[in-house]
Amino acid sequence: MAVRNGWIVNAGAVAVLLLAIAPAAAQNRSHAGPPDELFAKHRQAFMERMEGGIAIFRAQPEIPRNGDAGYPYRQDSDFYYVTGFTEPGAVAVLRPGAPEGERFVLFVRPHDVAAEIWTGHRAGVEGALENYEADRAYGIDSLDLVIPRYLQGVDRLYFDFSKDHPWAHTEALQGFRAWADTTGAQILGTDAIVNELRLIKGPEEIALLQEAIDITVDAQRAAMAAIVPGMFEYEVEALIEYVFRKRGSPRVGFNSIIGSGPNATILHYEENDRRMEADDMVVMDIGAEWAYYTADVTRTVPVDGEFSPQEAAIYQIVLDAQTAAMDIVRPGATIREIHVEAVEVVTEGLIREGLLEGTVRENIESGAYRRFFMHATSHWLGLDVHDVGPYEAPPGAGPRILEPGMVFTIEPGVYIAEGMEGVDPKWWGIGVRIEDDVLVTESGYRNLSAGAPREIEAIEAIMVGRGVPEVVPGSE
Ligand code: GLY
Ligand code: MN
Ligand code: MN
Repeated sequence: MAVRNGWIVNAGAVAVLLLAIAPAAAQNRSHAGPPDELFAKHRQAFMERMEGGIAIFRAQPEIPRNGDAGYPYRQDSDFYYVTGFTEPGAVAVLRPGAPEGERFVLFVRPHDVAAEIWTGHRAGVEGALENYEADRAYGIDSLDLVIPRYLQGVDRLYFDFSKDHPWAHTEALQGFRAWADTTGAQILGTDAIVNELRLIKGPEEIALLQEAIDITVDAQRAAMAAIVPGMFEYEVEALIEYVFRKRGSPRVGFNSIIGSGPNATILHYEENDRRMEADDMVVMDIGAEWAYYTADVTRTVPVDGEFSPQEAAIYQIVLDAQTAAMDIVRPGATIREIHVEAVEVVTEGLIREGLLEGTVRENIESGAYRRFFMHATSHWLGLDVHDVGPYEAPPGAGPRILEPGMVFTIEPGVYIAEGMEGVDPKWWGIGVRIEDDVLVTESGYRNLSAGAPREIEAIEAIMVGRGVPEVVPGSE
């Protein structure tokens, strides 16, 4: 295994590497957000599926962290989906039965000069009307006065109690159950409708997802070009998230997983604090957000840039499984079939390499393969990394049939923990996951993350000559 000595990683080196990706970042695209009509379209679709009544959505509350510091604010995905409104302290009401011009009501934090000096600009009631197309807008303090009026004569309320937070209550919201008890009205969740809508992405949403994925693909490539033995996992994380921010992504869609050596076998490892060794593999499971849509792309690479025979063998099994699983994607297929295919190819490969004994069928029936591949192959992807949408529809009716506009991941993996019993030590500590984001099209699928190299030769090619020589012009 080749170890490239004489290469260093330091702040100057990373800066030099980053110059290479600067041109892509210089396009000033950070404000190319969603088109205005997107949210109106979502509201309309939601209202068409309501059976009378009104729907109430709440913004994500701000969550305190410690002292006066809070967790970074991110809007609730459902609230964003129907409003596009990104501030906390807001409530949206949809009233399909009301006269035109009274159907979409926003309650927002009103302008407050003193508060805005501390915490920044607010859209205010005027902004809610002008920029978010609300038919009516009120200060959030009017909620308890106005909501009871909207509930009068209504026989059903769509409201998601499952999103309760102790600090997000108002009297009106707490009173819904009492209102339903006294009037005989029904309270239904918003999820049955909104999850189904969010499952099928429209062209505007696919463009936003593609942007999130393109940014993430660039970060994967930058990481491959920079990783050298001796670097810490958090340096890789920092480089990746630098690319995200440089390209205008406001945040990660989930905490970056950079797991090297034994950490490559921990599925949701997030500490990212280990020094990487030459004979490690490193799993990079990352996703930038763009306009609230997130990517989720994993690549696994050898830290020294060259796959050892054992690493190559396991990697090729996972790659073959992913390729075979992806080839199944088309309208009419199911995520279940995709998983079955991935499991079969992984199991076959593990038998071939002597990691499992017996036939493919025996290992699948007994579940023996799960020692090495213990997670699902796919999940929906969208505003949330594990996006909403039923995997069975209706519940109990069998797997969901794929339709154009669905986006999901394909991410088989093989994980051989250090010290795994009954396994030749030459395999210990190898963890491989390969994850791509696919869109179901009319005739098949599109791999939205195909720009990130997957083949062994392609990864080795990008890693050759990576890093920077010890003497870098302009760096000390
Ligand atoms: N990034 C978490 C997952 O792949 O599901
Ligand atoms: Mn995933
Ligand atoms: Mn992932």
